Amino acid sequence: MRFLYGRTAVITGAGSGIGRACAEAFAAQGYSVWALHRRAAGPPAPTAAGGRITPLACDVRDEDSVRGAVARVAAQEGAVGLVLHCAGFGISGAAEDVSLEAARAQMETNYFGVLRVNRHILPLMRARGGGLVLVVGSVAGHFAIPFQSHYASSKHALKAYVEALRMEGAPFGLRAALLEPGDTKTGFTAARAPAGPADSPYAPACARAVARMARDETRGHDPAKAARAALALARRRRPPVRRVVGLSYKFLVFAKRLLPARLVEFVLTRLYLRGAAPPGGV
Ligand SMILES: NC(=O)c1ccc[n+]([C@@H]2O[C@H](COP(=O)([O-])OP(=O)(O)OC[C@H]3O[C@@H](n4cnc5c(N)ncnc54)[C@H](OP(=O)(O)O)[C@@H]3O)[C@@H](O)[C@H]2O)c1
Repeated sequence: MRFLYGRTAVITGAGSGIGRACAEAFAAQGYSVWALHRRAAGPPAPTAAGGRITPLACDVRDEDSVRGAVARVAAQEGAVGLVLHCAGFGISGAAEDVSLEAARAQMETNYFGVLRVNRHILPLMRARGGGLVLVVGSVAGHFAIPFQSHYASSKHALKAYVEALRMEGAPFGLRAALLEPGDTKTGFTAARAPAGPADSPYAPACARAVARMARDETRGHDPAKAARAALALARRRRPPVRRVVGLSYKFLVFAKRLLPARLVEFVLTRLYLRGAAPPGGV
């Protein structure tokens, strides 16, 4: 069936990158897409397939903003059966350096943002007999790389949340799944927020690691690839726990389960900390 979870799709972070690509892909299939992000503006844009994208300003960090946005969708559509969480950003900095304030801000968008939207949308889904919650996690939900500890923590937290939500929601017809992209060419790279002081002893190694990440991201997948994976999940009555996007990332996530943790650490150190000072101390 084409619209297993109804024709309405709420997509957060749909202003650029993966969220935007998903909005376009779902609308092209005939979905009525509500594109939520902070700078959303303008009239609904219809598509040839009978779908449309309606921009709706919403900050997932703000309770009133989320409540108002979900109420607006519900008032117009009557029911909501599909939500796709793409709003997110990354901070960089050494685990020791990053302030609690910056770490909280990271979690506020990437993790609590998902919870905040779901707290308003899940009751609407239960009322219609079920729905699908797709959460954009990341390969960083499996691998914590140097100077991305808080970003990786936010994605690890989402993994646990989705795994539990799936089991709790199943009796109500609620489905949930993680969409886990690897490096993808989007606005994410430019939006990465440095959160460590410039005079930190970690600063040179952090700068090198972040440059490597930025290079990999700008050479990464087109966001349309993640959008195709999201559409494939929306066609599943029983979606898998996760869909990792891209063959090489699927292999990495699978290999991590089999390899000793120290070997994984060795490889990541070689990749991101090459040229840094050798291990010292006791
Ligand atoms: N790019 C990658 O390599 C990669 C890899 C794995 C996972 N991901 C994940 O994919 C998701 C999408 O990122 P992207 O790569 O597409 O980056 P992006 O191009 O920067 O898109 C992020 C989107 O989130 C919105 N946003 C940010 N903060 C928000 C807030 N507080 N409330 C509502 N919307 C907010 C932004 O729009 P406004 O600024 O207008 O709000 C923008 O539309 C993120 O969760 C990211 O962690 C990305």
